[in-house]
Amino acid sequence: VASNPSQISKEVADRIAELITERAAEGKQAVLGLATGSTPVGVYSELVRLHRDEGLSFQNVVTFNLDEYFPMLPDELQSYVRFMREHLFDHIDIDPANVHIPDGTLAVEQVPDYCRQYELKIEEAGGIDIQLLGIGRTGHIGFNEPGSGRSTLTRLITLDRVTRVDAASDFFGAEHVPRRAITMGVGTVLGAREVIMIAFGEGKSQIVAKAIEGPITPAIPATFLQEHPNARVYLDEAAAAALT
Ligand code: F6R
Repeated sequence: VASNPSQISKEVADRIAELITERAAEGKQAVLGLATGSTPVGVYSELVRLHRDEGLSFQNVVTFNLDEYFPMLPDELQSYVRFMREHLFDHIDIDPANVHIPDGTLAVEQVPDYCRQYELKIEEAGGIDIQLLGIGRTGHIGFNEPGSGRSTLTRLITLDRVTRVDAASDFFGAEHVPRRAITMGVGTVLGAREVIMIAFGEGKSQIVAKAIEGPITPAIPATFLQEHPNARVYLDEAAAAALT
């Protein structure tokens, strides 16, 4: 728990930079699982700064984003492809061929096969080294809404009403928020060798307490992180307020 969110963003960015540098020294790739939303923005701006001012290279980095709305065109305002370009990819030296973000433009019948391929690509890359996560007020990680079991994999899901309300301002009204999304599963996330979850603000305090201290249940998918051997949660004081 830290009083200053930017302290947390810096610490997390430093850990990611350390992995990238270690792997580069071994001539290996670093595989990152990435999140969107307001929470990781500071981590990405710090990674951009490390690239610009301190020579951190992303040439050996492979990324897999957690999720994308469905349907969604990559250039739309709310697209996670656009988000990642604006906050990270346009400002670093990553090879575009190494970037993976679920495709919101597919026909619905193409999605199951696409999702299997997404899992295969993660496997072929050697698995995820560090998975970055936020948490939604429903207890979702990625878009694994309540009801998502521990062995779920990448798939098309229906967004929870609360999640759509929380996204309403981005879409100029809850009625414009897509009803579905493609997301990595809980099992995909648990497969990462290291998990870093971040939450900021009072609005997250209740769900954070349940996720960390409550019983493990698919009703709150973030509770499955309690079973991960190498998961850390970074909270500002407001998000930590309901912990006992
Ligand atoms: C985003 C994602 C979501 C968000 C969560 C918190 O890729 O997978 O689980 O991390 O909804 O969103 P923010 O950070 O906007 O509060």
